[in-house]
Amino acid sequence: MSTTVLEKVKNIKVLNNIAENGLNVFKDKYRVDSDSDNPDAILVRSANMHAMDFGPELKAIARAGAGVNNIPVDRCTDTGIVVFNTPGANANAVKELVLTSLMASSRNLFDGVAWAKTLEDEGDQIPKLVEAGKKNFVGKEIKGKTLGVIGLGSIGMLVANDALDLDMDVIGYDPFISVDTAWNLSRNVQRAMSLEEVFAYSDYITVHVPFTDKTGGMFNKEVFNIMKPGVHILNFSRGELVDENDMAVALESGKVGKYITDFPNENVLKMKNVVPIPHLGASTSESEENCAIMAARQVKDFLETGNIRNS
Ligand code: MLT
Repeated sequence: MSTTVLEKVKNIKVLNNIAENGLNVFKDKYRVDSDSDNPDAILVRSANMHAMDFGPELKAIARAGAGVNNIPVDRCTDTGIVVFNTPGANANAVKELVLTSLMASSRNLFDGVAWAKTLEDEGDQIPKLVEAGKKNFVGKEIKGKTLGVIGLGSIGMLVANDALDLDMDVIGYDPFISVDTAWNLSRNVQRAMSLEEVFAYSDYITVHVPFTDKTGGMFNKEVFNIMKPGVHILNFSRGELVDENDMAVALESGKVGKYITDFPNENVLKMKNVVPIPHLGASTSESEENCAIMAARQVKDFLETGNIRNS
């Protein structure tokens, strides 16, 4: 005599667009939609979940991305909901945009292109372009310049290693690991230093740490004061790492030569030496698929076996 065991269908709620390849991880025993009232798990990218009510069945939330600031992690911990993220899955995408913007802004490419598009069709655009290009958009080569990498995790290390291949002098610091450990971890980074040294010696600074109580506002007037005049700062981590009022003052005075940010803030958005990027760091089709697949597998594994994995 055969026994049929009726397994309960599990509900997966999907907030935001999550790549199809990720959703395909769920089959048969799952219902995947965007409006389930009482899901077993939620997949999210950037929706702010802090004010959201969670149904009694919710067991896991997975963020298709690295940062978890849009998830009420403490509330989840208190109520036994497991929170996953996908560290590393979008690291290559972020690295490529960091290096692209570092080179492009150093060569004044964004300003030059924007200016070229303002030319009227008066038959003399080419001479105007050449003249203005030579006069107004002279840039700096990155070869031989010092790049300070703050945060030597998956993204920071990729940036550091590729910057070395571009003949930059790379120095690094990580707030969560000791200088010695950072030194050993960093295959090629020439010197792992104190944060103050990275601020003081860098021509370009790129930050790759999460936003926490320890890192919030770490870019402020005190540290701008110890930086080289005209330093370029790249922020592809979180806007909250930077005190935007102090940044506006430092940009105004030229102490910070350029601020390339993936988190434009209204205080600095329109300033001429700001490159505001509309949060594109992780926005490639490859990275979206990697994150979605990793997040979906974490959730599926957890719901089926209770395993909690971070990859
Ligand atoms: C991240 O935290 O990895 C990014 O915010 C991902 C994204 O762009 O959604």
